[in-house]
Amino acid sequence: MENQNTENPDTIQEEPDLTSRMVEVLSENNLGSFTSPAKLYPHQWLWDSAFIAIGLRHIDAERAAEEVASLIRGQWANGMIPNMIFNDGASYKFERDSWRSWLSPFAPDSVATSGITQPPMIADAVVKIAEKLPKTHRQEFYRFMYEPLVEYHEWIYNERDPHNEGLALQIHPYEVGLDNTPPWVHQLYEHSRPWWIALIERLHLQKVVNFLRRDTRRINPGQRISSLEALLLWDVVRRLRRKKYDIEKILHRSDFCTQDITFNSILVRNNTQLQHIAKEIRRKLPDELLAKIKHSEEAIEKLYDQPSGQYYSRDFITHKLILEPSIGTFMPLYAGSITKERAGELVKLMKDHKKYWLHHPIPSVPLDSTFFDSDRYWQGPSWVNTNWLIIDGLERYGFDTEAKELRTRTIAMVDKQGSYEYFDPIDGRGLGAENFAWTAALTIDLLQK
Ligand code: GLC
Repeated sequence: MENQNTENPDTIQEEPDLTSRMVEVLSENNLGSFTSPAKLYPHQWLWDSAFIAIGLRHIDAERAAEEVASLIRGQWANGMIPNMIFNDGASYKFERDSWRSWLSPFAPDSVATSGITQPPMIADAVVKIAEKLPKTHRQEFYRFMYEPLVEYHEWIYNERDPHNEGLALQIHPYEVGLDNTPPWVHQLYEHSRPWWIALIERLHLQKVVNFLRRDTRRINPGQRISSLEALLLWDVVRRLRRKKYDIEKILHRSDFCTQDITFNSILVRNNTQLQHIAKEIRRKLPDELLAKIKHSEEAIEKLYDQPSGQYYSRDFITHKLILEPSIGTFMPLYAGSITKERAGELVKLMKDHKKYWLHHPIPSVPLDSTFFDSDRYWQGPSWVNTNWLIIDGLERYGFDTEAKELRTRTIAMVDKQGSYEYFDPIDGRGLGAENFAWTAALTIDLLQK
């Protein structure tokens, strides 16, 4: 592919209007104390709420504080904060029942949740929201969030780092938020599939499954996760549910655990922000947690592959890196713990026109990957949240020109098409759900700089 970098990235039109359009999207999805990601997703999600609050703080800091505080109502007694808190309307019974969180003795009584977590983005959102709150309320907010966050980060290490490796493991791709990203799809295919999924595949009945799916009834199936992958993901939920989300039982017989680069990079950054919160309210994090935090910063390097100069996720059992390139490789920029030299290597990779630096960067999978499909969910499209994470990292590493360019291109993409869930990295078309909340919120945030 020839150099696609021909547009002038510095032309953003109608800045004030774009902010108001984005505010409109957020108010359409506002459900009172929290914001749903889109009409297609009527519940509350962990990292969605964090991203939403990061944008919302510029409009209404109190409401942004409420957005992340409302996640705490879903916290389990063991400290886990679930990736989803279900809406209790009668029409959502199927979703609640497919997780049945009440099977675990740790799940809260008052709300139904999923049984797994999502990248721990909350501490960063809390610090960013607090900057916008009046000083007295800032302290109160920090104090409210502190204990639940400490318990959450402790849970991550206690349950998800059983061998004290400094890397947290994940038990479902939903925990990473990049549902069908190639490294995880690779893991899914390696894992033995139940007979009934093999049968559906053999009889080519995948299309029938689309009729049962809510997303493919509303959105072109070519833009969504494939039906085979959706069934495999659902099957993993079924297995976890059968073990009542008990990690010992899950780890006892499981070959499906990954130490994911995106999750762990986000953990490292949010550990830093948690330390900041502790300092602000003059509290001291438990020594054991502090030691683990330190260990994680170094452990990210275990996910570095010298020959390719990239970061990858790793199989928890075999410790082998899963050498499938994806957007995850850039997430150590957000972590902030890698050397400036390593960060420079990532920037070079990011600017490669044959891989990531397309007209509308940054694609979730590089152009030269066998997985690349410009329309398909986490297998090609560019997403505003991953761009935001990378921009945040680039700025902290001092790559101001690259950060500015990516920010300008991201804003221009949303300005032109609207607040879509994701975008075609080649022609910029908006794809997936419309009026998607984190796209709107993070665009508001990007416009502030
Ligand atoms: C999809 C995304 C996930 C997000 C959720 C709600 O599952 O992959 O990251 O949190 O939708 O928007």
